Amino acid sequence: MAETAKKAFVCGHPIAHSRSPKIHGFWLKQYGIEGSYTAIDVAPDAFGDFLKALAADGFAGGNVTIPHKEAAFRLVEKRDAAAQAIGAVNTLWFENGRLWGGNTDAYGFAANLDERAPDWDKADTALVLGAGGAARAIIHALKERGFKQIRIVNRTVERAEALADQFGKGVSAHPLAASGEFLPETGLLINTTSLGMHGNMEIPVDPSALPDDATVTDIVYVPLETPLLAAARARGLKTVDGLGMLLHQAVPGFERWFGVKPTVTRELRDMIV
Ligand code: ATR
Repeated sequence: MAETAKKAFVCGHPIAHSRSPKIHGFWLKQYGIEGSYTAIDVAPDAFGDFLKALAADGFAGGNVTIPHKEAAFRLVEKRDAAAQAIGAVNTLWFENGRLWGGNTDAYGFAANLDERAPDWDKADTALVLGAGGAARAIIHALKERGFKQIRIVNRTVERAEALADQFGKGVSAHPLAASGEFLPETGLLINTTSLGMHGNMEIPVDPSALPDDATVTDIVYVPLETPLLAAARARGLKTVDGLGMLLHQAVPGFERWFGVKPTVTRELRDMIV
């Protein structure tokens, strides 16, 4: 590879299951870019040194995944607005010699819905299932898109309360069991938990009480159609699977490191599934 080839990475611990190398590898080939994107296993106690060596190691930037997203947030020199609001960094790049950290999860969530259910943000009431890191990014996206009432339901209600406090006006916290009473007045239902993922139990929420024009989406993409999405589709509702969020969240990083804004195509989806 020539000296000018751009290098990017995804680092996590463990990292073997990351799909990011396949996504970025697909785009590098598609656009004929001379560059590389590699998976690097970095243990938590080595993460700080890893970041310090990035520029010397010739990296244009990269992705950060579990368990390093909060450490990256603390260690970067500059943060974009999404990272600032979400408190976690998943994308790194250099600008004027400084290490920047951004968060593209909220962008990926919104871009997936923009593509698959273009009117999704005409609703103003959302019900968010779960209160982890994914929920935090998604609530940020919902607020940016003008949702007026965002209800978070979670098994551990204290975590939902902490999120609601952070986001303030229009965001409320409730126990998971309360979802039934909110469904008839929900325009967008989002599962942000890992329930419904292959091998896990289903999320205990029945979407049949949603209004006819509601949209249901899931961050889980294995299987592509989770039991929640299957039940929603059987009820005649619009459904959007979670694979698109994974693919779209990769777009801003690729553009920063390699200079081309890549497209999320059917071919890419089929290759990643
Ligand atoms: P992430 O940062 O990827 O979103 P997380 O912080 O572990 O992951 O959050 C996972 C979410 O799934 C949480 O809302 C969690 O509920 P708790 O806060 O009560 O732990 C939810 N979750 C995971 N397993 C669950 C289960 N068996 N029943 C109900 N909720 C569950």
